[in-house]
Amino acid sequence: MTDTVLKFDHVVKRFGDRTILDGVSTTVQAGEIVCFIGPSGTGKSTLLRCVNGLETIEGGNILFEGKAVQAKQRSIIDVRRRIGMIFQHFNLYPHLTALENVMLAPVVVHGEDRKTVEERARGLFEKVRLSHRINAYPAQMSGGEQQRVAIARALATNPHILLFDEPTSALDPETVGEVLAVMRDLAVEGRTMLVVTHEIRFAADVGTRMVFLDGGKIVEEGNPREMLAAPKSERAKRFLSTISNAAH
Ligand SMILES: Nc1ncnc2c1ncn2[C@@H]1O[C@H](COP(=O)(O)OP(=O)(O)O)[C@@H](O)[C@H]1O
Ligand SMILES: [Mg+2]
Repeated sequence: MTDTVLKFDHVVKRFGDRTILDGVSTTVQAGEIVCFIGPSGTGKSTLLRCVNGLETIEGGNILFEGKAVQAKQRSIIDVRRRIGMIFQHFNLYPHLTALENVMLAPVVVHGEDRKTVEERARGLFEKVRLSHRINAYPAQMSGGEQQRVAIARALATNPHILLFDEPTSALDPETVGEVLAVMRDLAVEGRTMLVVTHEIRFAADVGTRMVFLDGGKIVEEGNPREMLAAPKSERAKRFLSTISNAAH
């Protein structure tokens, strides 16, 4: 019995005649926290979007819990329920309160009972330390609070994997820590997570693996601490020196 949650098998993604993902292969086991790093425009967001069928792929396969993700099939609804996605810009519904944002998908998309969902949602607000903000609207919250609502929303369908796409890149520096703290809690719970991030300290402390993408390919992957201390490839070395310079 294997605990493989996600398998990328020679994934090719093109936009027009541009090849964005050029044969990406890697496997994610349950409980892994895989941090993706790489230059802007290298296909990190596209890779995450392919996992829950927001993009089609032109070659290879993505297997989620052993089944091929088929972007255009009805089964994608069940796949999406098991995959929680957290975006850089939160993407909360502005006309709904925090609580309503979290309850929306389970109640409206998946037809779950309102009372059950509300109880679960309240528990999730506790988890993201926002019980006092459940009736606030997105515009009344800080970026860090909105992102924590977005995390609660992603958790509301009981996902088996969480995909974070630069979750702290749009935040004021003083709220980055509160979001990373919630992500650390999720890691400690044993959640399986894919995290695109430039927060290399988070990757070193929490990540179980680091994957460096460049030119649509995995150039290097390995233990985050080892990779940060001594990247093997010249390209990873160059990239890591630019982001660690920027952080100082
Ligand atoms: N819907 C789209 N149509 C055409 N090109 C796209 C689309 N989405 C992304 N791209 C291009 O694909 C490349 C990879 O984008 P992206 O995955 O967002 O990179 P990253 O997240 O690593 O910065 C970029 O050159 C981007 O312009
Ligand atoms: Mg991106």
